[in-house]
Amino acid sequence: MTKQKDDKRAKVIAALNEARAMELQAIYQYMNHHYSLDDWDYGTLAVKMKKIAIDEMRHAEQFAERIKDINGNAGSEPIGKITHGHTIDNLYPFDAAAEEDTIERYNALMIECRESGDSVSATLFEKIINEEQDHFNYFDNTATHIKELKTSFLAKAAGTASDD
Ligand SMILES: [Fe+2]
Ligand SMILES: [Fe+2]
Repeated sequence: MTKQKDDKRAKVIAALNEARAMELQAIYQYMNHHYSLDDWDYGTLAVKMKKIAIDEMRHAEQFAERIKDINGNAGSEPIGKITHGHTIDNLYPFDAAAEEDTIERYNALMIECRESGDSVSATLFEKIINEEQDHFNYFDNTATHIKELKTSFLAKAAGTASDD
């Protein structure tokens, strides 16, 4: 492999590994939120949070599989520490902001992959950005419902089953 090709491949692997580390952090953060919602007895909200944490697990695996396909080593450390102590009022705005940051960063990483000539990795980013957009929409809508409808919205979730 030429030096130039090797540099491009290293750049793509770094982009994929950064995204994988972001996914690993999201998994821990959303699992933590899943347990909080479960503790507060908002069953339906807890179930949905758990499903989103599982989406992030799938993303972490998809990035790792692509790294392996191009002979890189997939990292296993989250990009940062999770935040504890959220309340029902600030949990969803926090998660919506996290998804927004993720979408912005993945768009930049997608462009890096494309500029490095790796359209398969770029397409993977594009596919995952679409799913992060769905997560953002859900978190943002839920934050709005809690802010505007507070008790009546939460009353519907209170005491519902937390197993799916
Ligand atoms: Fe994700
Ligand atoms: Fe997400």
